[in-house]
Amino acid sequence: MKTIVISLGGSILIPSLEKNKIKEYVPVLEEIAAHHRLFVVVGGGGEARRYITVARNLGIDEGTSDEIGILITRLNANLLIAALGEGAYPKVAESHAEAKKFAESKKIVIMGGITPGQTTDAVAAVLAERVGASVFINVTSVDGIYSSDPKKDKKAKRFDKLTPQQLLDIVGRAGLGAGSNIVLDVVAARIVERSHIPLVVLDGRDPRNLSCAIRTGEFTGTVVSDKKKKILPL
Ligand code: UTP
Repeated sequence: MKTIVISLGGSILIPSLEKNKIKEYVPVLEEIAAHHRLFVVVGGGGEARRYITVARNLGIDEGTSDEIGILITRLNANLLIAALGEGAYPKVAESHAEAKKFAESKKIVIMGGITPGQTTDAVAAVLAERVGASVFINVTSVDGIYSSDPKKDKKAKRFDKLTPQQLLDIVGRAGLGAGSNIVLDVVAARIVERSHIPLVVLDGRDPRNLSCAIRTGEFTGTVVSDKKKKILPL
């Protein structure tokens, strides 16, 4: 049994309330939890972005807008807990210490955001460090990490493998405002570098990509590690 921390992007799980993928992800998470100790950090998705836009238009500062984003991530986390039923610890962990405590139940532990100035990727990166995860998986809506934003730069190069330092160079060039949209936030990238815990950024638009990654090691995405060893399957 390995410990796995998954950052499940809101843009994947709940891009909008109407188009959510919760039903498809429940069996995938249950299957992983049958073999491993599992922590899932849920993002804010489309609703967080909408609320943050409204807050900004009202002239509300970034830190307060972040707090509103955090509330939405926790709302999404509550929805996932309810959908998982008995399989999940019944309360959203509001700190890393609480997540560790809830894990004593042997159930799937779900978190959302915790503190302004970062995203749920950073929450998950620190959680991976604190629970000694074998792997930190970032489930996102792109097919891997690129040298620059492929939507804006036609010459952007996609990577199968990166070192944590190369990742930091890439994300360090992107900005950090409430609701900012980069593949992994810079705080998370720094934690990945210092923890030496392997990171797998994988395409979660098809939930089977996550189950395949863990069971067979076959997946679409990018591995970030300073080790030569194969990270997946577990
Ligand atoms: P997300 O983690 O969902 O950010 O948090 P994201 O980059 O939009 O990721 P996806 O699209 O879900 O994959 C939403 C917002 O909530 C605030 C930030 O403003 C963030 O942009 N937030 C979240 C925090 O301030 N602190 C946290 O710990 C988490």
